[in-house]
Amino acid sequence: MKVNIIGAGNIADYHARSIKALGYQLGIVADENENSAKRFAEKYGCRWTTDAALLLSEKSDLVTVAVPNAYHFDVATAAVKAGHAVLCEKPMTRSAEHSKQLAELVRQTEKPFFVGYMKRVHPTVRKFEEYAARIGNMRSGLVRVYHPTPQDSWTFVRDRLAQFPDAPMDGVFVNAGSHMLDLLLRFAGPVKKVLAARMQYQEGCCPKVDQMTHALLEMENGATVTVECGWLPLFGVGKRENGWDELLELRGDSGLGTLHTTFWERPQYESPVAELWDESLKTKESYNAGMVDNFEEEYRLIKMALSGEKVPLATADEALAVDRLIDDIFAAASIRS
Ligand SMILES: NC(=O)c1ccc[n+]([C@@H]2O[C@H](COP(=O)([O-])OP(=O)(O)OC[C@H]3O[C@@H](n4cnc5c(N)ncnc54)[C@H](O)[C@@H]3O)[C@@H](O)[C@H]2O)c1
Repeated sequence: MKVNIIGAGNIADYHARSIKALGYQLGIVADENENSAKRFAEKYGCRWTTDAALLLSEKSDLVTVAVPNAYHFDVATAAVKAGHAVLCEKPMTRSAEHSKQLAELVRQTEKPFFVGYMKRVHPTVRKFEEYAARIGNMRSGLVRVYHPTPQDSWTFVRDRLAQFPDAPMDGVFVNAGSHMLDLLLRFAGPVKKVLAARMQYQEGCCPKVDQMTHALLEMENGATVTVECGWLPLFGVGKRENGWDELLELRGDSGLGTLHTTFWERPQYESPVAELWDESLKTKESYNAGMVDNFEEEYRLIKMALSGEKVPLATADEALAVDRLIDDIFAAASIRS
């Protein structure tokens, strides 16, 4: 499989490392910043360009879109229009309207399109599907996403937004909350309505970069779900007491399913843990498949999908549902603030 990448920043490293580890071919990288493109190409032994259109004119099995969220719509649209299969980093775009347009384009062109919600591909997370099905009628749920963030990082955000008000920045809810909303929708089904939402901001960071987002959701299955998501300077909390406090909990008439996910940047050191309390058996089961690099697993599954196999990667329509929910929560928060 030959993969070309647009965007040679932070996340592109994880993609390139996985492509190499699996023995796939990395063809060319495009980044509008010449230094970034060159440095990346030297590190991974591929060609480089500053012209994404040139990359799109080349044949490949997959184009990975790894540019900042704000540019996903334009870059992914161009890649689909050029006839490529695409892996687009999450979130699919920064608005439900853009994601709807892109999902329609994907439907028309019938080209494979995957969105990088890679937490869902880990074998432990896949096992959680079975646990979620065993809780009986779902009554309530919890989506928790707290990441340890030094207090002084807000100075950087504030200064950057003061200098460049249009800087392509997003906060914790869009960047990290989106992963867990994807898991909620996957395992608990669609949301009927956002009952309430509130966002908290650091001075000078509103409305782009939230510090905390809370929401209350009514699911189509009748359950009520609490969402809590934030960046706080707490480094000793969470399941592993390393500050990473990320959890999906689904509570039903006959069981409680719990999924603790991990630092996205440490797939080789930490593994998610899935648990199920089964009321009929009066037992607690737990599953931990060990260290599996989500990014590698994502590419392995893409290769299978391109050969026609059914795989649990996020589709354009599933990612659109996440973006709709994000927009609805933002709207509910601004109505009520
Ligand atoms: N899956 C995950 O858990 C995860 C984790 C981190 C980041 N991400 C996602 O990865 C994406 C990139 O994030 P990042 O941290 O690597 O950002 P980054 O700023 O480090 O890198 C982005 C790169 O894209 C380049 N770029 C911007 N616009 C471009 C364009 N139109 N054409 C070509 N190059 C362009 C920039 O010069 C930069 O080098 C984001 O969508 C982010 O949400 C996903």
